[in-house]
Amino acid sequence: MNIIQAENYKQMSELAAKKLIEQINRKSDSVLGLATGSTPEGLYEEIIKEYKEGNVSFKDVTTFNLDEYVGLSKNNDQSYYYYMHKLLFDHIDLKTDQANLPNGDAKDLQEECSRYEASIQQAGGIDIQILGIGLNGHIGFNEPGTPFSIQTHIVDLDESTRNANARFFDSIDEVPLQAITMGIDSIMQTKQIILLVSGSKKAEALEKLVNGPVTEDFPASILQKHPNVTIIADSDALSELS
Ligand code: F6R
Repeated sequence: MNIIQAENYKQMSELAAKKLIEQINRKSDSVLGLATGSTPEGLYEEIIKEYKEGNVSFKDVTTFNLDEYVGLSKNNDQSYYYYMHKLLFDHIDLKTDQANLPNGDAKDLQEECSRYEASIQQAGGIDIQILGIGLNGHIGFNEPGTPFSIQTHIVDLDESTRNANARFFDSIDEVPLQAITMGIDSIMQTKQIILLVSGSKKAEALEKLVNGPVTEDFPASILQKHPNVTIIADSDALSELS
């Protein structure tokens, strides 16, 4: 794993944006894997800035998001669909039908999981995947105990994950109980991964990811086995790594 140390959150975001933009300028029809949460917000701001300055175009790009809550409509301001449109898609020239998220409001969720996985394959696979990490080592919404062999699937969210995400909702009761997420196997099939980590709260998780045993009890540990992972972390997040 290649670890890049950023001084702070802003620099982490700038370095990640630079890598994504280089990828698109090298291959205009790149397939990007995107994440939500607090960590990539700065990355999306940087991308919009670069786009407005004319340094990149998304007109041939396809994107796939990692995950979506079950039971929230697209218009719900807590859905990841809403998040992605508000923070990125509405500000760049990415075509709407090339921006993919799992539909957490689908009638048949199982069928939606298969459809989503198949559409990633049809697009030729993901060239570059952005990841964040949860305090319990989750990537996407693959919680501890998720088999490494699994593809896009429905998950019951851990209490700790619901608590961590409650900050975006009016109360914990409103945080959905389930989500659809790309599986560990789907993530491992991506050609390149950029994992973003910021803040001292994530330092322990980052240390475990890099130095701990590869175990389904700490899903992110599987990244030790991926051939092309770059971790971009700020100094607070790196504080437990010597
Ligand atoms: C989001 C996702 C999650 C987050 C993780 C960290 O699409 O898949 O794995 O990356 O929960 O979230 P933040 O960045 O809010 O700390």
